[in-house]
Amino acid sequence: MAAADQIKSLIKSFGEDDEERFFSSAIQIAASEARQGHVNIAQELKSLIEQARKTRSNQIFDRNKTVHFSPQKRELSELIDIYQPQITLKDMVLNEHVYSVLNRVIDEQRKSEILRQHNLSPQRKLLLMGPPGCGKTMTAEAIAGELGIPVFIVRLDGIMSKFMGESIVKLRLIFDAMPNQRAVYLFDEFDSIGSHRNMGQDVGEVKRVLNSFLINIEKDQSNSIIIAATNLPESLDKALFRRFDEIINYPVPTVIEIEETLARQTRNFKFDKKPNLKEIAKNALGLNYSEIIKACEETVKYMILSDKKSLSSSLLNQNLQKKKM
Ligand SMILES: Nc1ncnc2c1ncn2[C@@H]1O[C@H](COP(=O)(O)OP(=O)(O)O)[C@@H](O)[C@H]1O
Ligand SMILES: [Mg+2]
Repeated sequence: MAAADQIKSLIKSFGEDDEERFFSSAIQIAASEARQGHVNIAQELKSLIEQARKTRSNQIFDRNKTVHFSPQKRELSELIDIYQPQITLKDMVLNEHVYSVLNRVIDEQRKSEILRQHNLSPQRKLLLMGPPGCGKTMTAEAIAGELGIPVFIVRLDGIMSKFMGESIVKLRLIFDAMPNQRAVYLFDEFDSIGSHRNMGQDVGEVKRVLNSFLINIEKDQSNSIIIAATNLPESLDKALFRRFDEIINYPVPTVIEIEETLARQTRNFKFDKKPNLKEIAKNALGLNYSEIIKACEETVKYMILSDKKSLSSSLLNQNLQKKKM
């Protein structure tokens, strides 16, 4: 039997999320079993520990799942949300230009070793601009999904209001993590520091954070991907633009893109009568992807809850129109 002290230490380290101490306590238990001549149980414990270590280090986190940090990383976890997206570019509707730019970024990332052997570096600093609901956050997720690496979402406005006066130190912490933890680092709502006409917040602080961001992104040599996303490109400080490898615009969808979105969202269902998706799409012009997808979901939900066998195209049309109001 393991000594009570060892079990206490095991439970305590679990409670404190101290992974290293957890494993070292577990190893001590295995060792003391071995010393007592319990060879089989000692061996079994050792292989369980090895297995657990492997799983933990490979562990990539599910979306929305709590992420466990060792104490050193815990400070970082206050600043970011982490998850492992499963989506890829194929899950998005994108115009050809954006698609080819993103595809190239992913390709260069996949072949980054070859590029580096030729003293070239892959593209990895992207600025995404455009109205809400058009795929900026989703792009960060899709790139991470394609490369099998996690997304670290940095909420700059949160950092600035929560750590007033300390934001630069916090920002540094995030940039310091980039070489060690390869991920897509998404600076969402980037206008909260990138904007030269920031209202409400301490202007001096915003300027200092922006300058610090500019210095950090310029210096960064990691193989992580840095994405800044903003709904307010007009207000961005001009000094920012040349720090990025690609600046990509995300406009609201065209009729063709809306039609494609409608088709994808309804592909698993029958319609009551053959729908004219092009016509419906024309009427929906001006809506963003997020609104269009929600209108489709509402139509599907209605069909399911009212026990109907097919989707109503006129209801789909109505639901889309409602989003315009
Ligand atoms: N280009 C797109 N293709 C497919 N779905 C999209 C696209 N853009 C947005 N969506 C849908 O809208 C939701 C919100 O999009 P998001 O990427 O968060 O927008 P943004 O970050 O530009 O405000 C996504 O989760 C997705 O369901
Ligand atoms: Mg977003």
